[in-house]
Amino acid sequence: MSSTAPAPDEEAFEDAHVLDPAATQDSQEQISSEISAIHAEASGETQPRLDFPPYRSSLLRHPTKSMVHADPETIELWSPAFGDRDVHPLESDLTIQRGGEPIGERIKVRGRVLDGDGRPVRGQLVEIWQANAAGRYVHKRDQHPAPLDPNFTGIGRTLTDEQGRYEFTTIKPAPYPWKNHHNAWRPAHIHFSLFGTDFTQRMITQMYFPGDPLFSLDPIYQGITDQKARDRLVATYDHSVTSHEWNTGYYWDIVLSGSNRTWMEDEEGEH
Ligand SMILES: [Fe+2]
Repeated sequence: MSSTAPAPDEEAFEDAHVLDPAATQDSQEQISSEISAIHAEASGETQPRLDFPPYRSSLLRHPTKSMVHADPETIELWSPAFGDRDVHPLESDLTIQRGGEPIGERIKVRGRVLDGDGRPVRGQLVEIWQANAAGRYVHKRDQHPAPLDPNFTGIGRTLTDEQGRYEFTTIKPAPYPWKNHHNAWRPAHIHFSLFGTDFTQRMITQMYFPGDPLFSLDPIYQGITDQKARDRLVATYDHSVTSHEWNTGYYWDIVLSGSNRTWMEDEEGEH
Protein backbone atom coordinates (compact mmCIF):
# COMPACT_ATOMS: atom_id res chain seq x y z
CA MET A 1 0.00 0.00 0.00
CA SER A 2 1.38 3.43 -0.83
CA SER A 3 1.76 6.01 1.88
CA THR A 4 -1.09 8.06 0.44
CA ALA A 5 -3.67 5.27 0.38
CA PRO A 6 -6.10 5.37 3.29
CA ALA A 7 -6.11 2.45 5.65
CA PRO A 8 -8.91 -0.01 4.78
CA ASP A 9 -10.98 0.83 7.83
CA GLU A 10 -10.60 4.54 7.20
CA GLU A 11 -11.64 4.18 3.58
CA ALA A 12 -14.75 2.19 4.48
CA PHE A 13 -15.65 4.69 7.15
CA GLU A 14 -15.37 7.63 4.77
CA ASP A 15 -17.38 5.90 2.06
CA ALA A 16 -20.19 5.26 4.50
CA HIS A 17 -20.40 8.93 5.41
CA VAL A 18 -20.36 10.64 2.03
CA LEU A 19 -22.29 13.86 2.18
CA ASP A 20 -23.76 15.78 -0.68
CA PRO A 21 -21.40 18.80 -0.66
CA ALA A 22 -24.31 21.06 -1.54
CA ALA A 23 -26.19 19.93 1.57
CA THR A 24 -23.53 21.37 3.86
CA GLN A 25 -24.14 24.80 2.37
CA ASP A 26 -27.69 24.98 3.69
CA SER A 27 -28.23 27.83 6.13
CA GLN A 28 -29.34 27.51 9.73
CA GLU A 29 -32.56 29.28 8.68
CA GLN A 30 -33.27 26.54 6.14
CA ILE A 31 -32.59 23.78 8.67
CA SER A 32 -34.65 25.50 11.36
CA SER A 33 -37.63 26.03 9.06
CA GLU A 34 -37.58 22.35 8.07
CA ILE A 35 -37.50 21.36 11.75
CA SER A 36 -40.49 23.62 12.46
CA ALA A 37 -42.49 22.17 9.57
CA ILE A 38 -41.87 18.59 10.73
CA HIS A 39 -42.74 19.40 14.34
CA ALA A 40 -45.96 21.11 13.25
CA GLU A 41 -47.35 17.88 11.80
CA ALA A 42 -45.92 15.49 14.40
CA SER A 43 -47.48 14.33 17.62
CA GLY A 44 -46.55 11.99 20.41
CA GLU A 45 -43.34 10.61 18.95
CA THR A 46 -40.90 10.10 21.79
CA GLN A 47 -38.15 8.43 19.80
CA PRO A 48 -36.19 10.12 17.01
CA ARG A 49 -37.22 9.71 13.41
CA LEU A 50 -34.61 7.76 11.52
CA ASP A 51 -35.52 9.69 8.39
CA PHE A 52 -35.17 13.29 9.57
CA PRO A 53 -34.00 15.42 6.60
CA PRO A 54 -32.71 18.41 8.63
CA TYR A 55 -30.13 15.98 10.04
CA ARG A 56 -28.38 16.13 6.67
CA SER A 57 -25.40 14.00 7.53
CA SER A 58 -27.68 11.05 8.35
CA LEU A 59 -29.53 11.07 5.02
CA LEU A 60 -27.38 8.45 3.34
CA ARG A 61 -26.72 6.27 6.35
CA HIS A 62 -29.90 6.03 8.39
CA PRO A 63 -31.68 2.65 8.33
CA THR A 64 -34.27 2.39 5.56
CA LYS A 65 -35.72 -0.99 6.49
CA SER A 66 -37.49 -2.21 9.59
CA MET A 67 -35.39 -3.87 12.20
CA VAL A 68 -35.07 -7.62 11.92
CA HIS A 69 -35.57 -9.45 15.18
CA ALA A 70 -32.90 -12.08 15.61
CA ASP A 71 -32.95 -14.65 18.36
CA PRO A 72 -29.59 -14.47 20.05
CA GLU A 73 -27.57 -17.63 20.33
CA THR A 74 -27.55 -19.04 23.83
CA ILE A 75 -23.87 -18.26 24.09
CA GLU A 76 -24.62 -14.57 23.51
CA LEU A 77 -26.91 -14.55 26.50
CA TRP A 78 -24.33 -16.16 28.74
CA SER A 79 -21.11 -14.68 27.40
CA PRO A 80 -19.03 -12.33 29.46
CA ALA A 81 -20.97 -9.69 31.24
CA PHE A 82 -19.27 -7.08 33.37
CA GLY A 83 -18.44 -7.62 36.97
CA ASP A 84 -17.15 -5.46 39.77
CA ARG A 85 -13.59 -6.52 39.14
CA ASP A 86 -13.61 -5.42 35.50
CA VAL A 87 -14.13 -1.72 36.12
CA HIS A 88 -11.93 0.22 38.52
CA PRO A 89 -13.71 2.89 40.60
CA LEU A 90 -11.21 5.52 39.44
CA GLU A 91 -12.34 5.05 35.81
CA SER A 92 -15.35 7.21 36.60
CA ASP A 93 -13.12 10.23 37.24
CA LEU A 94 -12.10 11.83 33.94
CA THR A 95 -10.06 14.52 35.71
CA ILE A 96 -7.28 12.25 37.01
CA GLN A 97 -6.34 10.20 33.96
CA ARG A 98 -3.18 12.07 33.09
CA GLY A 99 -0.37 13.86 34.86
CA GLY A 100 -2.24 17.09 35.48
CA GLU A 101 -5.65 18.67 35.83
CA PRO A 102 -7.71 19.20 32.69
CA ILE A 103 -8.83 22.74 31.90
CA GLY A 104 -12.49 23.62 32.37
CA GLU A 105 -15.41 23.62 34.75
CA ARG A 106 -15.13 20.56 36.99
CA ILE A 107 -18.51 18.85 37.34
CA LYS A 108 -20.05 15.71 38.74
CA VAL A 109 -22.84 13.99 36.83
CA ARG A 110 -24.94 11.68 38.95
CA GLY A 111 -28.13 9.75 38.36
CA ARG A 112 -29.80 6.37 38.25
CA VAL A 113 -30.49 3.77 35.59
CA LEU A 114 -34.09 2.59 35.92
CA ASP A 115 -36.39 0.19 34.14
CA GLY A 116 -39.85 1.24 32.97
CA ASP A 117 -41.36 0.53 36.40
CA GLY A 118 -38.83 2.69 38.23
CA ARG A 119 -36.80 -0.23 39.52
CA PRO A 120 -33.01 0.24 39.73
CA VAL A 121 -30.88 -1.49 37.13
CA ARG A 122 -27.90 -2.81 39.07
CA GLY A 123 -24.41 -3.62 37.85
CA GLN A 124 -24.97 -1.87 34.53
CA LEU A 125 -21.85 -0.80 32.65
CA VAL A 126 -22.20 2.92 31.91
CA GLU A 127 -19.64 4.41 29.54
CA ILE A 128 -19.31 8.07 28.54
CA TRP A 129 -17.36 10.03 25.96
CA GLN A 130 -17.32 13.74 25.37
CA ALA A 131 -15.53 16.77 23.96
CA ASN A 132 -13.23 18.82 26.19
CA ALA A 133 -13.82 22.33 27.55
CA ALA A 134 -12.90 23.76 24.14
CA GLY A 135 -15.32 21.53 22.23
CA ARG A 136 -12.66 19.18 20.86
CA TYR A 137 -12.66 15.37 20.85
CA VAL A 138 -9.56 13.23 21.02
CA HIS A 139 -10.27 11.64 17.65
CA LYS A 140 -8.47 11.91 14.33
CA ARG A 141 -11.71 12.85 12.56
CA ASP A 142 -12.20 15.89 14.79
CA GLN A 143 -9.92 18.43 13.17
CA HIS A 144 -11.64 21.70 13.96
CA PRO A 145 -9.22 24.36 15.25
CA ALA A 146 -9.83 24.11 18.98
CA PRO A 147 -7.10 22.93 21.35
CA LEU A 148 -6.73 19.41 22.62
CA ASP A 149 -6.14 19.10 26.36
CA PRO A 150 -3.19 16.82 27.17
CA ASN A 151 -4.82 16.04 30.51
CA PHE A 152 -8.21 15.03 29.17
CA THR A 153 -9.23 11.97 27.15
CA GLY A 154 -12.99 12.49 27.48
CA ILE A 155 -13.63 8.80 28.16
CA GLY A 156 -14.84 7.15 31.36
CA ARG A 157 -16.90 4.26 32.65
CA THR A 158 -18.49 2.89 35.79
CA LEU A 159 -20.93 0.26 37.04
CA THR A 160 -24.27 1.14 38.62
CA ASP A 161 -24.55 0.24 42.28
CA GLU A 162 -27.28 -1.64 44.16
CA GLN A 163 -29.64 1.34 43.79
CA GLY A 164 -28.88 1.69 40.08
CA ARG A 165 -26.80 4.82 40.73
CA TYR A 166 -23.87 6.04 38.67
CA GLU A 167 -21.58 9.03 39.09
CA PHE A 168 -18.87 10.62 36.98
CA THR A 169 -16.43 13.42 37.73
CA THR A 170 -15.50 15.26 34.56
CA ILE A 171 -15.16 18.62 32.82
CA LYS A 172 -18.14 20.39 31.32
CA PRO A 173 -17.88 19.96 27.54
CA ALA A 174 -18.26 22.91 25.17
CA PRO A 175 -20.39 23.12 22.02
CA TYR A 176 -18.57 22.23 18.82
CA PRO A 177 -19.06 22.83 15.09
CA TRP A 178 -20.02 20.04 12.71
CA LYS A 179 -20.61 19.91 8.98
CA ASN A 180 -24.33 19.14 8.87
CA HIS A 181 -25.01 22.57 7.38
CA HIS A 182 -23.30 25.93 7.22
CA ASN A 183 -22.19 27.16 10.66
CA ALA A 184 -23.80 24.20 12.45
CA TRP A 185 -23.03 23.85 16.18
CA ARG A 186 -23.96 21.04 18.50
CA PRO A 187 -25.25 21.86 21.99
CA ALA A 188 -22.85 20.73 24.71
CA HIS A 189 -23.48 17.06 25.49
CA ILE A 190 -22.07 13.88 26.96
CA HIS A 191 -22.53 10.59 25.09
CA PHE A 192 -23.71 7.67 27.21
CA SER A 193 -23.53 3.97 26.37
CA LEU A 194 -25.31 1.43 28.52
CA PHE A 195 -24.29 -2.17 28.37
CA GLY A 196 -26.76 -4.73 29.67
CA THR A 197 -26.09 -8.14 31.07
CA ASP A 198 -24.94 -9.62 27.78
CA PHE A 199 -23.57 -8.57 24.42
CA THR A 200 -26.96 -8.34 22.74
CA GLN A 201 -27.88 -5.36 24.89
CA ARG A 202 -26.40 -1.96 24.29
CA MET A 203 -28.03 1.43 24.16
CA ILE A 204 -26.54 4.81 23.34
CA THR A 205 -27.89 8.26 24.10
CA GLN A 206 -26.79 11.83 24.86
CA MET A 207 -27.15 14.02 27.92
CA TYR A 208 -27.49 17.78 27.53
CA PHE A 209 -27.07 20.72 29.91
CA PRO A 210 -29.99 22.93 30.98
CA GLY A 211 -30.59 26.24 29.22
CA ASP A 212 -28.36 25.60 26.21
CA PRO A 213 -29.09 28.30 23.58
CA LEU A 214 -28.33 25.84 20.77
CA PHE A 215 -31.22 23.46 21.52
CA SER A 216 -33.63 25.04 19.04
CA LEU A 217 -31.05 24.96 16.24
CA ASP A 218 -29.83 21.39 16.57
CA PRO A 219 -31.31 18.80 14.18
CA ILE A 220 -30.16 15.89 16.35
CA TYR A 221 -31.83 17.14 19.53
CA GLN A 222 -34.84 18.30 17.48
CA GLY A 223 -34.97 14.92 15.71
CA ILE A 224 -37.24 13.95 18.60
CA THR A 225 -40.46 15.76 17.83
CA ASP A 226 -42.01 15.51 21.32
CA GLN A 227 -40.92 18.31 23.67
CA LYS A 228 -41.34 16.20 26.83
CA ALA A 229 -39.17 13.48 25.33
CA ARG A 230 -36.52 16.08 24.43
CA ASP A 231 -36.67 17.47 27.97
CA ARG A 232 -35.78 14.05 29.34
CA LEU A 233 -32.36 14.33 27.69
CA VAL A 234 -31.52 17.46 29.66
CA ALA A 235 -29.84 17.07 33.04
CA THR A 236 -30.88 19.16 36.03
CA TYR A 237 -28.46 21.44 37.83
CA ASP A 238 -28.40 19.95 41.33
CA HIS A 239 -26.69 21.81 44.12
CA SER A 240 -26.63 18.65 46.25
CA VAL A 241 -24.22 17.15 43.69
CA THR A 242 -21.79 20.05 44.06
CA SER A 243 -18.79 20.14 46.42
CA HIS A 244 -17.36 23.09 48.30
CA GLU A 245 -14.61 24.72 46.26
CA TRP A 246 -14.40 21.69 43.99
CA ASN A 247 -17.23 21.00 41.52
CA THR A 248 -20.67 21.96 40.30
CA GLY A 249 -23.14 19.16 39.72
CA TYR A 250 -25.84 17.76 37.46
CA TYR A 251 -28.39 15.01 37.94
CA TRP A 252 -29.75 12.81 35.16
CA ASP A 253 -31.77 9.58 35.33
CA ILE A 254 -31.85 7.15 32.41
CA VAL A 255 -35.04 5.13 31.92
CA LEU A 256 -34.61 2.07 29.73
CA SER A 257 -38.21 1.29 28.80
CA GLY A 258 -41.82 2.35 29.20
CA SER A 259 -43.52 5.68 28.52
CA ASN A 260 -40.75 7.72 30.18
CA ARG A 261 -38.02 5.98 28.27
CA THR A 262 -34.90 7.98 27.48
CA TRP A 263 -34.29 8.43 23.78
CA MET A 264 -31.64 6.06 22.41
CA GLU A 265 -29.81 6.62 19.17
CA ASP A 266 -28.66 4.06 16.65
CA GLU A 267 -25.04 3.01 16.99
CA GLU A 268 -24.02 4.87 13.85
CA GLY A 269 -24.46 8.20 15.60
CA GLU A 270 -21.21 10.10 15.76
CA HIS A 271 -21.95 13.58 16.95
FE1 LIG B 1 -20.74 14.45 20.34
